[in-house]
Amino acid sequence: MKNLKLISLLLPLLLIGCNRGDFKESKTFAGEKVVTASTLNLGHTTYMEYCVSCHGVKGDGAGVSAKGMYPAPRNFTQGIYKFAYVVSGELPHDEDFYRIIRHGLKGSAMLPWDISDERLDAVTQYIKTFAPAVWEGTDKVLGTKYELPADPFGDVYRHQAIEKGKSVYHITAACTTCHRGYETKENISKYNIEVNKVPLKPEEFAADLYELKLQEGDWNYKVIPPDFTHHQLRSITDVASIVQRLMYGVNGSGMPGWKDVVTDQELWALAYYIQSLRDLKESPAKYELLEKINNQK
Ligand code: HEC
Ligand code: HEC
Repeated sequence: MKNLKLISLLLPLLLIGCNRGDFKESKTFAGEKVVTASTLNLGHTTYMEYCVSCHGVKGDGAGVSAKGMYPAPRNFTQGIYKFAYVVSGELPHDEDFYRIIRHGLKGSAMLPWDISDERLDAVTQYIKTFAPAVWEGTDKVLGTKYELPADPFGDVYRHQAIEKGKSVYHITAACTTCHRGYETKENISKYNIEVNKVPLKPEEFAADLYELKLQEGDWNYKVIPPDFTHHQLRSITDVASIVQRLMYGVNGSGMPGWKDVVTDQELWALAYYIQSLRDLKESPAKYELLEKINNQK
């Protein structure tokens, strides 16, 4: 009985001790970024106001609204981030968090957040406290960023870029190992002649060429490689943002980075081609294209 009483007396104190919004000391994060306790406390308040319903009190992605949500809200305790502009698996810079939180992730429940710059920075720093092993300490480094290569096409040569993009997409980079194909087998065989000097034999086309191949991610759900004529793309705004995404891939989702796998010119060609597929949306041109594909032998 006595013990119970002691526990009931201590419990509120213990809870206060655990209160995540009660930072007393500054913390040092990757890139030797020193963040004051008051910033972390503001980050906590902001998080509890706007983010907790999905990302959860513990940052584990198990908020009250998260049940059944696809894709699931990010579990911040893993310290894995998908849409930063850094080499896959490395740590995002603050500007990556700012961009992602400000723009949201289209086609997911993650909305764009119109909060003050001060709160944006504070909540960014606070999120890092959920994954201390990844972020805390003077030995942690931020991810490598690449220069965005100059656009070799521009609007004038957009058409040429798209044509080149078709052969890079279907042959050189074989994006169809995960995403679907968008050209007839006859055309794809022509691209193979351009790239490899030989036509493709009927048995060389994958049976699931026109299907989306679900990927195992770093989470307990499968990830759908988007159909560019249909799905909203999370981190894409314009052609340059597609180049950025292609350089880095989507960390934790199976989508690899293509920097140095294809040339810079091929990256831009792919990006213009993906944009042209996005522009099709639900237009008659999209259904003409699908009909051609569905009617082939
Ligand atoms: C209505 C639910 C919801 C709310 C509220 C919400 N998010 Fe998210 N958030 C998501 C979902 C869902 C994802 C995962 C999207 C994906 O994987 O494509 C996500 C992902 C993220 C990511 C990961 C980005 C990456 O590259 O992996 C960050 C950072 C993030 N949210 C920050 C925030 C912050 C900060 C707030 C509050 C200001 C917030 N979120 C509020 C649903 C939400
Ligand atoms: C190994 C499988 C795989 C390959 C190969 C692959 N992707 Fe992806 N891709 C994915 C998956 C899975 C996603 C969805 C990621 C997510 O939302 O979590 C994706 C997403 C994307 C996105 C959308 C990113 C966003 O912000 O929503 C683009 C654009 C894209 N891929 C283009 C390409 C192109 C172009 C190629 C070939 C150069 C390619 N992918 C090759 C698996 C792949």
